[in-house]
Amino acid sequence: MELTGKTALVTGSTAGIGAEAARLLAAAGAEVVVSGRNAERGAATVRSITDEGGRGRFLAADLTDLDSLHQLAAAAGEVDILVNNAAVFPGAPTVTQDVESFDAVLAANIRAPYFLTAALAPGMIARGSGSIVNVSTMAAKVGMPGLSVYSATKAALESLTRTWAAEFSPAGVRVNTVAPGPTRTDMVLAAMGEEGAQQIGKTTLLGRLATPREIAEVILFLASDRAAYLTGATIAADAGRTAA
Ligand SMILES: NC(=O)c1ccc[n+]([C@@H]2O[C@H](COP(=O)([O-])OP(=O)(O)OC[C@H]3O[C@@H](n4cnc5c(N)ncnc54)[C@H](OP(=O)(O)O)[C@@H]3O)[C@@H](O)[C@H]2O)c1
Repeated sequence: MELTGKTALVTGSTAGIGAEAARLLAAAGAEVVVSGRNAERGAATVRSITDEGGRGRFLAADLTDLDSLHQLAAAAGEVDILVNNAAVFPGAPTVTQDVESFDAVLAANIRAPYFLTAALAPGMIARGSGSIVNVSTMAAKVGMPGLSVYSATKAALESLTRTWAAEFSPAGVRVNTVAPGPTRTDMVLAAMGEEGAQQIGKTTLLGRLATPREIAEVILFLASDRAAYLTGATIAADAGRTAA
């Protein structure tokens, strides 16, 4: 299997796209560190991995807490593949955006992947190999009312992808981003409801929502050596939503 001998840490793998990515990476042979705040859902992801014969363990962390983040990095050990997937999605029109929520979105969506990457990249650089996959969104490219802070954090993550590629890739560490379109997950259903989710799916060229599996396949690709010549790239997995 192509990821045998590798350790992958997937943030936000207690649900949605992250859980599916954890399952696919494990099925490809990686030992997967599943992470999030919810231990019950984390255990369910690990169970689904081990039921399929894969290897996984859960490490609880609240990534908005830097002590918790650093404990996660230390407990994960040598990480070959880091998937910065965890994020929060609260929306608000700019003119009514409160500072508390503004800071909370920045802490989860930008400060957390920044300092987790800063903690784990040195090990990859020392070993001369590694793959970091960031998860952005189509909303980083197109203006969507009410999503100002969320979209800005993801645009910043795409910028960091290019900077980190420039900093780490000469040492053999690739850094790429997948920017999903609307995907059927709890995050989307909680924010928009079933009908709202269907409506946004219809705005894509394929006229539907993605499944978490369809996005996780791109994460697996970017994490693996099949993407050996990709670094600093952002791949739109959005059914053409940002293309036309
Ligand atoms: N779904 C979409 O349509 C869509 C579209 C474009 C991009 N994306 C991106 O795809 C990624 C996954 O989205 P999703 O829809 O799968 O989301 P989701 O179902 O809401 O899952 C979010 C994950 O992030 C974790 N998380 C949130 N805050 C955290 C914190 N403070 N510390 C640690 N973990 C935290 C959650 O775990 P706990 O609750 O256990 O902490 C959960 O596992 C996100 O980066 C999102 O921006 C999603």
